[in-house]
Amino acid sequence: MPQLCVNIDHVATLRNARAGVEPEPITAMAMAELAGAFGIIVHLREDRRHIVDRDVVMIRDCTNTRLNLEMAATEEMQAIALDIKPETVCLVPEKRAELTTEGGLAVTGREEELKAYMQPLWDAGIETSLFVDADPAQVEAAAATGTQIVEIHTGHYADARSLDTVKAELGKVLAGIKLAQDLGLKVNLGHGLNYTNIFAFKDVPGIMEYSIGHSIISRAIFVGMDRAVGDMLDIIRTFKD
Ligand code: PXP
Repeated sequence: MPQLCVNIDHVATLRNARAGVEPEPITAMAMAELAGAFGIIVHLREDRRHIVDRDVVMIRDCTNTRLNLEMAATEEMQAIALDIKPETVCLVPEKRAELTTEGGLAVTGREEELKAYMQPLWDAGIETSLFVDADPAQVEAAAATGTQIVEIHTGHYADARSLDTVKAELGKVLAGIKLAQDLGLKVNLGHGLNYTNIFAFKDVPGIMEYSIGHSIISRAIFVGMDRAVGDMLDIIRTFKD
């Protein structure tokens, strides 16, 4: 069965809006885990706009599941990952001015550089995932780096509005999934997935994890974390293995 990993960044966004101590991401972590999440995801951004170092330390100490640390491929973040030792590191591109991660990592032409960057993480027993667009060249380059996992970017599909664009973007994601699987990579999906658009993947075999944040935290504001995570799990549990 595909698994659900819950990104709790936006609990920190709300907390930081008042520069205070509530709501705490660690509470969301505990509630997501109690509701059945397979893992917890946080993105420690260079500008610390939501998750801060303290959150990562606390979550690492207290998680009963798996921690996936999203981060840019910088020296600072590599040192933090080696210290914290999340189960997985997901490398993402980062631009200071962006509202959220806007696209996949540029891997083509950087295969050796990224491999060298990931080697110490692998040596420390950390699995790596590269967040890539469903572009065959990027998926092939990701496989060439030796990463164990790719997370295919579903944001363009999620943002598409006209039926034709939705179809076209979905087609790219499905082709990307197939290619990555054929290349022997484990495949995660993430970005912009919600309680409706995720159904497009119901019959797609071999997805390992769904990485979902914004839609779950948004729903949790109204119905609570337990039900928001539970509702998503109820959907994913009907999906093909
Ligand atoms: N995957 C990656 C690599 C991301 O950067 C994000 C956003 O932080 C997500 C998944 C989750 O996206 P969303 O919050 O839209 O569910």
